[in-house]
Amino acid sequence: MRIFEESSLDAMIAEAKRWRMELDATLRSESAVIRGLWSRDRLLELRDHVFRFRQANGLSGNMAYNEGTPDHVKIVDKPLGSNRPTRFVLSQFFPWNTQAHADIPAISQGLMRFRNLASGFAPDTGMRAGCEYVSWPSVIQYRRGGDFLAAHRDQYAFQCILILSQMGEDFTEGGNYYLSATGHHFEEPNLRFGDVLLLKSDLVHGVHPIDPHLTDDGAMGGRWMMFCPLAKRSEVLRAA
Ligand SMILES: [Fe+2]
Repeated sequence: MRIFEESSLDAMIAEAKRWRMELDATLRSESAVIRGLWSRDRLLELRDHVFRFRQANGLSGNMAYNEGTPDHVKIVDKPLGSNRPTRFVLSQFFPWNTQAHADIPAISQGLMRFRNLASGFAPDTGMRAGCEYVSWPSVIQYRRGGDFLAAHRDQYAFQCILILSQMGEDFTEGGNYYLSATGHHFEEPNLRFGDVLLLKSDLVHGVHPIDPHLTDDGAMGGRWMMFCPLAKRSEVLRAA
């Protein structure tokens, strides 16, 4: 894992061409982390907000996505027989809704712009009405008690994952790994709260079960991250 210490996302975006080359070269053979972009207090407050939103609104079932879909929180639980087995709590905040906390759009839009520029996309891909793609902030909590994500590849650009927990504090076992020609690489022990983890989209990766021998207590423990899925508007948005 290669670590880049950087304090300004705007400065990185201003040098998008250089970063694209740097990351292309790095991500060919390993993962990369951008460390130091946002203060710990700011990100803790963001995570608290997401947790309070769930406490206030409860859990929803599955709903169709369209420009009337409210922000909501749901359990994603796909058994081992499905094509992408996983279990976690997913909180989604859509661009067509007004956000009570300004850092939901502020930080997620930064992640999206960086993803777009470093991937060679137009700077506002997924961020404006009428664009072929749509992107929105999703916050995932892998709860203690074994929440996990099976090995998979992602589509499109490289993945830009903001880590919002710390192994050793929020959980003790499990977490991110990837597979390469040299085998299994367990990354979580190298990750810090606030890191932006970058993975090539065709890299096979997943999340080992988080504290599988404990029972989830409904609190904030476990592994947290924010990312912004990028999907074709025509494939995810449906008429109300
Ligand atoms: Fe992924």
